[in-house]
Amino acid sequence: MTDTKSNKMWGGRFAAGPDAIMEAINASIGFDKRMAAQDIAGSRAHAAMLAATGILSDSDAEAIREGLLTILSEIEGGQFEFSTALEDIHMNVEARLKEVIGEPAGRLHTGRSRNDQVATDFKLWTRDQFDAFEGGLLALIDALLGQAEAGADWVMPGFTHLQTAQPVTWGHHMMAYVEMFGRDLSRVRDARARMNESPLGAAALAGTSFPIDREMTAQALGFDRPSANSLDAVSDRDFALEFLSCASICAMHLSRFAEELVIWSSAQFRFVALSDRFSTGSSIMPQKKNPDAAELIRAKVGRIFGANTALMMVMKGLPLTYSKDMQEDKEQVFDAADNLMLALAAMEGMVRDMNGQRENLAAAAGSGFSTATDLADWLVRVLGLPFRDAHHITGSLVAMAEGQGCDLPDLTLEQMQSVHAQITGDVFDVLGVENSVNSRMSYGGTAPAQVRIQIKRWKDIL
Ligand code: ARG
Repeated sequence: MTDTKSNKMWGGRFAAGPDAIMEAINASIGFDKRMAAQDIAGSRAHAAMLAATGILSDSDAEAIREGLLTILSEIEGGQFEFSTALEDIHMNVEARLKEVIGEPAGRLHTGRSRNDQVATDFKLWTRDQFDAFEGGLLALIDALLGQAEAGADWVMPGFTHLQTAQPVTWGHHMMAYVEMFGRDLSRVRDARARMNESPLGAAALAGTSFPIDREMTAQALGFDRPSANSLDAVSDRDFALEFLSCASICAMHLSRFAEELVIWSSAQFRFVALSDRFSTGSSIMPQKKNPDAAELIRAKVGRIFGANTALMMVMKGLPLTYSKDMQEDKEQVFDAADNLMLALAAMEGMVRDMNGQRENLAAAAGSGFSTATDLADWLVRVLGLPFRDAHHITGSLVAMAEGQGCDLPDLTLEQMQSVHAQITGDVFDVLGVENSVNSRMSYGGTAPAQVRIQIKRWKDIL
């Protein structure tokens, strides 16, 4: 080496070491140390493959294997000293390997580059997060199914524009979220299957002249196959973007549900009582029980979607293949993954603990003229009126009830007949919310019997 200050790993052509500012902007060790286990797994697979193909002697490979295991336990035990001068996790591990086993350490990087190494490590890390994401979704769906089952026939108002629309069932509302998180689950599984190709062996960008066995390393690391184009392999970050976009959509779903829980737990609604375990108090107002978990979940979509946007901006316009810009990928995914897992777990806990207030839900279901559509449908079905006329007549009856400060079932038959003479007393049957929801038996409708069919379908799927 020309200068003891120049970088041990790549300083051969350098006469001087980097400026402190250069070192600061260049280093990723502050965050990519989270990929230490993946880095060591990748190196072990690579070393074993180098030995199997005769590129490395068995004794060197064995020394490397043992050295890497020692380093892994140092890192796990918190005794490893990370160095900013060594830039990143890859060079920190390799430099330590040199200290632990000496000369054979220098042979580990044969037929490999940090470009395929980092792509491999980051894929392995992200793949674990896809699996955790799947687990979190399954647990949340299970919690929602529990709520749906318990309240399959509880009536509540269904809303459009947050205005009372028609009565629905609690189970139906819970199952709407099961569908949403179910789509998230299928997106996660799709993306995970697509990303599971090994970049290792793409080397710097062009592949290598060493007779490496990419199938072997792919298999050792649990990949389905090696990636087919070395240029693409080192420059692809689609897997990270797919993780972030799956996470963004899921966080958006979580945020919608969180918003409903905030509204539902308010004193004005009282649709749901959140447990003490997922609420907080106010330091000044003794009566308060705040839905902080729901509020924070509602906010998480901001940073997760922000991460998605940030990485899109980093990647757009980058020429093939690797550019250092891509080092900015990890913090976005780390932060999004941490916050997504927390939000999923908090939502699952809240859902398991929450108590739907059946009586309040039922009382609200019957107010706000929620069965007006049932009345209009009755006029069509029984009196044979065109739907538009029925709509108009019902509108007049709603106006009448509103003028009297009562609900539709509180009008007398005479009052109804003053609007349309042929209305009979049978009409009162359809004005009850129970009948209303029971009648909505179309596939996917809100009738408890339909809801139970969907609960069973989901239980069979899972
Ligand atoms: N720390 C780098 C990153 O995260 C590793 C790859 C560096 N490759 C290189 N050619 N400088 O992207």
